Amino acid sequence: MTSLAVLHASQLVTVAGPKRPRVARELSELALIRDGGILIRDGVIEVVGPSAEIEKQVRDAEVIDARGKVVLPGFVDAHTHLVFAGNRLEDFERRARGDTYEQIAKAGGGIWSTVEKTRAASEADLLVEAKKHAEWFLSCGTTTVESKSGYGLSLEEELKILRVMKRLSRQTPLEIVPTFLGAHATPRNMNAGEYVNLVVDEMLPRVTSERLAEFCDVFCERGYFDIEQSRRILNAAKKLGLNLRIHADQLSNSGGSKLAAHLKAKTADHLEKTDGEGIEALKSGGVQPVLLPGSVYALGSTQYPRAREMIDAGLAVVIATDFNPGSSPTTSMPMILSLACTYMKMSPAEAIAASTINAAFSLRRGDQIGSLEPGKLANFAIFDCEDYRELAYWFGVPLTHGVYVTGKKVH
Ligand code: NIG
Ligand code: FE
Repeated sequence: MTSLAVLHASQLVTVAGPKRPRVARELSELALIRDGGILIRDGVIEVVGPSAEIEKQVRDAEVIDARGKVVLPGFVDAHTHLVFAGNRLEDFERRARGDTYEQIAKAGGGIWSTVEKTRAASEADLLVEAKKHAEWFLSCGTTTVESKSGYGLSLEEELKILRVMKRLSRQTPLEIVPTFLGAHATPRNMNAGEYVNLVVDEMLPRVTSERLAEFCDVFCERGYFDIEQSRRILNAAKKLGLNLRIHADQLSNSGGSKLAAHLKAKTADHLEKTDGEGIEALKSGGVQPVLLPGSVYALGSTQYPRAREMIDAGLAVVIATDFNPGSSPTTSMPMILSLACTYMKMSPAEAIAASTINAAFSLRRGDQIGSLEPGKLANFAIFDCEDYRELAYWFGVPLTHGVYVTGKKVH
């Protein structure tokens, strides 16, 4: 039996609370313990409390002194596109010159250019790049990520990406929750209708029979997949036992949030263009909004999603990085906390609940991760600051001191 004790954290942010996602005022309740400690046995949290109490039970445990530091549950990043080849530096420069996301895609950049690079990469090469991204996530204090396929756009290439995720999950400490996003764009040699048939008739059955995904997602957007095409794919996925997430209302208010509500999707993501009606729909369908301020920022837009209205409506808001090479090249959840506070007017406490416990519930893992409570996995991060609000405040400053997954130091 291996034991570990973390003692004397200036703030131990437990995020303990009810066994369901946090809504409204609950989002501000982080259940933090000053001079707090945790006792861990065999990778699982056994006791959480004031250091004075933990100290009495330490016995032969290895001790980590967290004096002057903040301890948080490892961040849970519920929306990423982690597996891709290369970068999109040309798009980045074009944007700086004033081109829009859609103009860049038409000019040969955009999702398709990453598809070409990803197809050209072998499974082994992709795994090497994915490991680099995984290390970036860990270095920012993230211990679980949802990861979408979607840069393959053919049966074999999508399977290749999902296999890389499986190998990555086994070979690195970062926990990967796989999502099949075959419907991320239409490949050049087909029209959308033909491609939807391929997704429904061939890809989904293979993905599920090989158990390569837990969720299915669709980029429901003007110029990508319309409401009917999205509905068809997501219904087929649901029948095969996958849970649902949807890229909704990112560039236009196209009804994606209403579709999410109708299908009882676990999440609707982006929502920059969602209006009051859409928010009502999410509420009635029990859908968690996943807000991605990193992509608004990196696309140079100023229209952030209406987080305050969503919180007031009682939605269990999640925030995530949307890590991808095109619209959000960051793995940093602290950066997302900063954007959430500054541009979406969330409090630092709300942002932390949204990136830990609520994110965990959106991935159906709320009983294992997302808070520091007895019985949960000992996934946590130690930061070099005394107050959790500093994480959102010192933006761009690397404050990670140590990261632990099931009680083992991984960064
Ligand atoms: O979440 N919206 C669609 N997909 C990504 C962008 C992917 C890309 O540009 O490569 C997103 O923003
Ligand atoms: Fe995305």
